[in-house]
Amino acid sequence: MTDAIGYERIGDIAVLAAQNPPVNALGYDVRVGLVQGIERAEADAGVRAVLIYGEGATYFAGADIREFGKPPREPFLPDVCNRIESSPLIVVSAMHGTALGGGLEIALSSHYRVAVPKARMGLPEVNLGLIPGATGTQRLPRLTGVEAAIDLVTSGRQIGAKEALDLGVIDKIAEGDPREIGLAYVRELLDSGAPRRAVSELPAPAPIDFDAAYEATLKKGRGQLSPAYGVRAVQAACERPFAEGVAEERRLFTELMGTKQRQGMIHAFFAERAVGKLPELDGVTPREVKSVGVIGGGTMGAGIATAALGAGLSVVLLEMSAEAAEAARKRIEGNLSGALKRGSLGQDAFDAMMTRALTLATDYEALSDVDLVIEAVFEQMDVKKQVFTRLDAVCKPGAVLATNTSYLDIDEIAAVTKRPQDVIGLHFFSPAHIMKLLEVVVADKTAPEVVATGFALGKRLGKISVRAGVCDGFIGNRILKTYRTAAEHMVLDGASPFQIDKALTDFGFAMGPYAVSDLAGLDIGWMTRKRLAPTRHPRERVPTYADKLCEAGHYGQKTGRGYYIYEAGRRAGIPNPEVMELIEAERAELGLASRDFSDDEIVRRYMAAMVNEGAKVLEEGIARRPLDIDMVFLSGYGFPRYHGGPMKWADMQGLDKVLEDIRTFAREDDYFWQPAPLLERLVEEGRTFDDMNREAAS
Ligand code: 3HC
Ligand code: NAI
Repeated sequence: MTDAIGYERIGDIAVLAAQNPPVNALGYDVRVGLVQGIERAEADAGVRAVLIYGEGATYFAGADIREFGKPPREPFLPDVCNRIESSPLIVVSAMHGTALGGGLEIALSSHYRVAVPKARMGLPEVNLGLIPGATGTQRLPRLTGVEAAIDLVTSGRQIGAKEALDLGVIDKIAEGDPREIGLAYVRELLDSGAPRRAVSELPAPAPIDFDAAYEATLKKGRGQLSPAYGVRAVQAACERPFAEGVAEERRLFTELMGTKQRQGMIHAFFAERAVGKLPELDGVTPREVKSVGVIGGGTMGAGIATAALGAGLSVVLLEMSAEAAEAARKRIEGNLSGALKRGSLGQDAFDAMMTRALTLATDYEALSDVDLVIEAVFEQMDVKKQVFTRLDAVCKPGAVLATNTSYLDIDEIAAVTKRPQDVIGLHFFSPAHIMKLLEVVVADKTAPEVVATGFALGKRLGKISVRAGVCDGFIGNRILKTYRTAAEHMVLDGASPFQIDKALTDFGFAMGPYAVSDLAGLDIGWMTRKRLAPTRHPRERVPTYADKLCEAGHYGQKTGRGYYIYEAGRRAGIPNPEVMELIEAERAELGLASRDFSDDEIVRRYMAAMVNEGAKVLEEGIARRPLDIDMVFLSGYGFPRYHGGPMKWADMQGLDKVLEDIRTFAREDDYFWQPAPLLERLVEEGRTFDDMNREAAS
């Protein structure tokens, strides 16, 4: 026996206990151990049943993802599943924690399943660019019917024990330790003479219109293949005998395993876990945060306050006047009422947040006792400096003083206080109570303990926190500015904003850059352009047509008109014809000849700009690792997860190809397209961004 599966005999029951922390992933040793355990139980005279459960935090949480991409080693997981099910003994799985992917597939291959009330289960393989590859797509529909199986396989969502019982995924819920509830259930089954029950022998459900389901799923996934493949696998379960269905599932799984989408999504999985691991925070204890002050209750302040209230923190919100404070309260109420309507927030909790947990104030004295303050006032340096001077005077020693500035120099803000070590950037994304990304911006003098506090707060608010350094726009907005500029150059040279948006949504972005600008408000970019105008290099190409839209009062969605026109009652906009008129007039004024751009060229230019600036951001230490940039774009900018993030995408394209594009584009404009020295070095040395990630981890 391997150490990964313990064997114990209790009367006529053999107990197989998984011992592979932290999540009992089904690596090679575990698979071998399960087969050996079943064989030993069958050879163990007097054993009538087998109980499988996991020690530690969970039942099996899935196949061992670290083995993907390496040569597979026998026994393969589907064979382990079939070996378990074909045992003449009664096999029972007792689940706790998260029974996911291959884990749930082992459970489905057992003859009976019991779970603790808090257990969660699901088939999340689609989130890794895969489908269940160990008979899950064949066994699940036989228990739940087609509709629920397609839902679970294509969404990857986790379900609780109650829903699993209702759907027929499990047979029983029992409170207690998995070993105890498992043993009690096995005893009950043996005593009642329950038969061995193989899911594969149950009749397959009737087919549905699978072609329609496939097309709908493909469309919903915006180019992501795995959910649509999941539909085909369930189809095989309905239309073919079990063994053939399993073979078809394996074929689809193996095909997906070879795709870049799989590589991109698994990169995203590990990047999400690596992003908070910073050597300088090892052993550093964050400061305790129970109460938060928020200054400014506009779009961002209200969103941040909502997130903090939702995480059980008490909030003091400071505004300029009682009227502005009341408007902020209404915004927060509006944000929370969404959760109230959806049922994810109860009325009592809502009332408690809006009354006891939230305090509105107009006087800085109200902030004298809070543990952490987040400033979200207007994006103007003089206003920020005034606020931080007041905070320095009133906040208790040790309070963390954070700014939500999008672009401004946090060192300069910190310098107006006598405690720059306590000052940090906590850059949320709009809507702040929904968007996952938090850039934790570390200024020159920020203390490690304060950085750790930023990360701890991010975790508490359910955010993905990424460390960033100080520069204009930090990681995300700085890179955004560069690829937006590349898009503007294409517009000047002949592409339309609408073609660019379409090419990028076809690439997989949730929205194109012009639709995003309409959503954020065109006035924001306008203000930034005005702010940066004095520092602009004479060779910078900055079109003015967008300023003209703003001058005409068209700020995007909030005014009903921007690049697109937003008709009442319709969410998506239709192209605004004025935009093309303004662009054509500008091209004529500048004497520019228009040329055609293919969608492929649009994507390559946009991505090359993103990757090139990303490499510069890395070289300057604004981002520590390529994966930090990937996480910023995946969690804050709607970058398609199946491309893994811009730096992973570049690796998968081949850095030499991206650099070659940049050099080609530089022949037209060698001011904008200056290759990042880091990118040139990596290509010269035959290294990748992933190599940098690995080096940083070792
Ligand atoms: N394989 C290898 N390592 C895994 C893993 C897996 N399936 N799941 C988690 N880990 C690792 C994580 O990388 C992390 O490692 P680290 O400490 O070195 O960073 C550690 O286990 C703990 O993970 P988390 O930090 O995520 O711990 P949480 O308690 O927050 O979450 C979890 C636990 C819910 C199990 C979460 O880790 C998770 O969702 N894991 C992935 C589950 C999954 O996708 N399973 C399907 C795999 S594919 C499959 O089964 C194919 C089959 O059909 C053939
Ligand atoms: P906003 O204009 O919606 O809100 C600003 C609020 O601050 C107003 O309610 C105003 O009354 C209040 N305020 C101004 N000066 C104040 C003072 N001295 N004391 C107390 N309250 C004061 O602005 P928004 O969009 O919420 O932006 C706030 C900050 O967040 C800015 O620094 C911005 O750059 C940043 N940010 C904005 C994002 C966005 O998408 N809107 C995203 C991320 C950061």
